[in-house]
Amino acid sequence: MKPIKVGLLGLGTVGSGTFNVLKRNQEEIMRRAGRAIEITMVAVRNTERAKDIVKGEVEIVSDGNLVVDHPEIDIVVELIGGNEIAKDLVLKAIANGKHVVTANKALIAKHGNEVFKAAQDKGVMVAFEAAVAGGIPIIKALREGLTANRIQWIAGIINGTTNFILSEMRDKGLDFATALKQAQALGYAEADPTFDIEGIDAAHKLTIMASIAFGIPTQFDKAYIEGITKLEATDIEYAEQLGYRIKLLGITKRNEAGIELRVHPTLIPEKRLIANVEGAMNAVLVQGDAVGATLYYGKGAGSEPTASSVIADVVDITRLASADPEHRVPYLAFQPNALSDVNVLPMSEVFTSYYLRMRVEDKPGVLADVTKILAEFSISIDAMLQKEPAEGESRTDIIMLTHQTQEKNIDAAIARIEALASVTGTVTKLRLEELS
Ligand code: HSE
Repeated sequence: MKPIKVGLLGLGTVGSGTFNVLKRNQEEIMRRAGRAIEITMVAVRNTERAKDIVKGEVEIVSDGNLVVDHPEIDIVVELIGGNEIAKDLVLKAIANGKHVVTANKALIAKHGNEVFKAAQDKGVMVAFEAAVAGGIPIIKALREGLTANRIQWIAGIINGTTNFILSEMRDKGLDFATALKQAQALGYAEADPTFDIEGIDAAHKLTIMASIAFGIPTQFDKAYIEGITKLEATDIEYAEQLGYRIKLLGITKRNEAGIELRVHPTLIPEKRLIANVEGAMNAVLVQGDAVGATLYYGKGAGSEPTASSVIADVVDITRLASADPEHRVPYLAFQPNALSDVNVLPMSEVFTSYYLRMRVEDKPGVLADVTKILAEFSISIDAMLQKEPAEGESRTDIIMLTHQTQEKNIDAAIARIEALASVTGTVTKLRLEELS
């Protein structure tokens, strides 16, 4: 059979990894795919750098249109990232009847519905394993391996930069800014680190997983997103004293009222395997009704780990290229006409447990005032920590862990607690998940 022809858009970290791994493992990959996979053309901004990578073996161009319009190219691999240019090129490739592989999480999370509709109309495949958790085959697992299950929830550490920062803050007692600089120096952070530290990158990935897990359209705009920029080292330390680690989790759950879709710093029991995922590693915990909990762990970024996912998609497409479009795996795991538009819940409607830290006067009756307010809102306390005031200080910290309650309920209780004369400043609120 003649080789399948691939055009690459972008030859940066992931593009060069894809080129190198395909070349290094070509024999093995061909034995799996059933035919040779050839990179025909690459489009890049910096053609000089690209020449060093491809060493005259592939034609280099600076206009992506030449790749998506190339009559012989079967699969366009989009590794440019970002929104506008990538989206235009992907839609043009689809319109030209080409299959698409992309690592672009923002594109799929924000414009997935449009891209999949266009692809369905043209009968082409769009694969995006590399868009979520880098080298971990989580899309494959959710879409195919767990297909027998009614998936109940997913909780993932899906941003390596923030996990690295939180690990450094906990291990070495670093402040946020120093740990961020280290993450950037090591090349973990996105070009704009805001996407990492404000939770946007994680929310893109979570949006995609939620769609595949529950069979809903991609709805990034409905995700609740809170990053780690306001997280204080004090809370990491107190959480630890109570037996918890703080991780930036992407959580999506199905319950009777709708779908939860939320990214925020979360306390999780330190005895859970996922609580011990350190540094820039990623992990995704999936709860299915038949299988129970399954955990997927690995590198969530980097040249060859991400290339591993890109090439897996290229191989999948190669194997299925001649199959009838009706017999391929649906883009979002569920047949396009079987997607359901279940309500994504606003954060105020979500039920979870909480960590509260407040600065109070160390005098009789203060604790009683606080617990009375919590009782009025039917909020039950699970654990409490009170510190001795520092030498010469009249105020101290009280830390409380609550049982589950609704977010709007805890917010109303916090407003009342903050109004107490014996409470100084604001109450720090973090969410807590047992993940059991
Ligand atoms: N900036 C991302 C992370 C890289 O830190 O996980 C891959 O999406």
